[in-house]
Amino acid sequence: MKKRENWSWRGAFVFAVLGSAVGLGNAWRFPYMVAQNGGGAFLIPYIFALLTAGIPLMMLEFGIGHKFLGAPPIAYRRANKKLEMVGWWGNAASFVIITYYGVVLAWAINYLVHALTLAWGDDTTGFFLNFLRVSEGPHILGGLNVPVLIAFVIGWIMVIAIIRSGVTGLGKVVVFTAIAPVILLIILSIRGITLEGALAGLDYYLSPNFAALADLTVWRDAYSQVFFSLSLGMGVLIAYASYLPRDAELSNNVFIASLADAGIAFLAGLAIFSTVGYMAAQQGAAVADVAGSGGIGLAFMVFPQVINLLPGAAAFGVIFFLLLITLAIDSQFSLVEGCVGAVMDKWNLSRGTALAIVSLPGFLIGLVFVTNGGLHWLDIVDKFVNGYGLIVVGLVECIAIGWIIGPQKIRDHVNGLSEIKVGKWFDFCVKYLTPAALIFILVFNLIIDIKEPYGGYPQWALNVGWAMVILLPIVAFIFSKLKTAKEADEFVEEQS
Ligand code: PFF
Repeated sequence: MKKRENWSWRGAFVFAVLGSAVGLGNAWRFPYMVAQNGGGAFLIPYIFALLTAGIPLMMLEFGIGHKFLGAPPIAYRRANKKLEMVGWWGNAASFVIITYYGVVLAWAINYLVHALTLAWGDDTTGFFLNFLRVSEGPHILGGLNVPVLIAFVIGWIMVIAIIRSGVTGLGKVVVFTAIAPVILLIILSIRGITLEGALAGLDYYLSPNFAALADLTVWRDAYSQVFFSLSLGMGVLIAYASYLPRDAELSNNVFIASLADAGIAFLAGLAIFSTVGYMAAQQGAAVADVAGSGGIGLAFMVFPQVINLLPGAAAFGVIFFLLLITLAIDSQFSLVEGCVGAVMDKWNLSRGTALAIVSLPGFLIGLVFVTNGGLHWLDIVDKFVNGYGLIVVGLVECIAIGWIIGPQKIRDHVNGLSEIKVGKWFDFCVKYLTPAALIFILVFNLIIDIKEPYGGYPQWALNVGWAMVILLPIVAFIFSKLKTAKEADEFVEEQS
């Protein structure tokens, strides 16, 4: 077997994991999830989900990738031949995310150009809707949005260029892309907090709303946000861990990555909601209304507001969107890399061929989201792939490891390498706690979603979302049955 590629230096892995985890999920998705779920209602379930699913599953994925040395399908296959499909299932879900993640990245690239002249003016909300020329509903696709299309192509070219350079290259890019954005978010938060009305915004964000905890959709959104934000269930972390040297520390990296990711999302929330408080005060509106009306464009409506209010606004805006782009790029390439790794390992293909197999369809399908109806479809697909697709994959992973492979095998492997030992709590989480929480959420949300169509979209459009969720395991099954290169079945224990 070929020698497996390795990270170029020790810190590269944790930076790469951070680079994958910290992305649009923190700065764009987290704030709108908070807003959609009524502000302070969200944080408690979020923290709960982080502890009960985020940390154990991250440990599990690092353990599998590192022990069985492969991108997800092959790693699972080596653990147990029947389980290869679990890996592909995650890859299939990540492929769906690839298609629309690049489009949000393209919005950010457009905003970088708009920042030069502060083109958004004072009405940043109107500007966003106008910029996307959003159609009335998912039934009207309209034409392609040319500025977004151009940026979409540029984004893909950048991602492909980075991936072509291989894992050694990744290690270098991520150091910059993971750290710099944090500094800017701190500046934005400080400016946001000192604005008039900010306190009302922070109150909305931070005061716990215990009554809302009874609403199960809040819990579903919290779990899916944790999956999305930590890059879990999609095989990315399995693939990354497989590139680690044989004597790597695993468990402390889990804690560093998961807590830093949550911290950065929290910071983005501070910047966003203090500014939302300011916007509400300016408009004489309620904070909840301003936050809730933003929908999935919230971050793009709010960040420009606070940027307007900084000295040297245009320069700051340019730097901010530049960093948002770098943040998004390393997440997008981790998604693509997870699938590329799977295709490479399964058929023993070259990196270039695998990259073409993944990115061409990823790009073409993504064009749907570049149309005028794209925002509606992005909303629907994002909701279904995260709310159902990922949660089901997480559940299947727990069953595979908890009940078939045995959590202890993974724990022993991790403990054999790490200073921080993982206790029996891990087995309990993987076997009982995490799956129970996920099943509970799935069942109740299924009932809620069937009763009341999400987002007021027509049923036929939501059916596309359901069809996609159902297709994921079917595609995964078919892929797992395709012939595997014989190299993939040779298992090398010692290397490096
Ligand atoms: N975690 C990334 C973010 O928060 O933006 C998005 C992401 C990357 C999701 C990689 C899934 C993944 F596998």
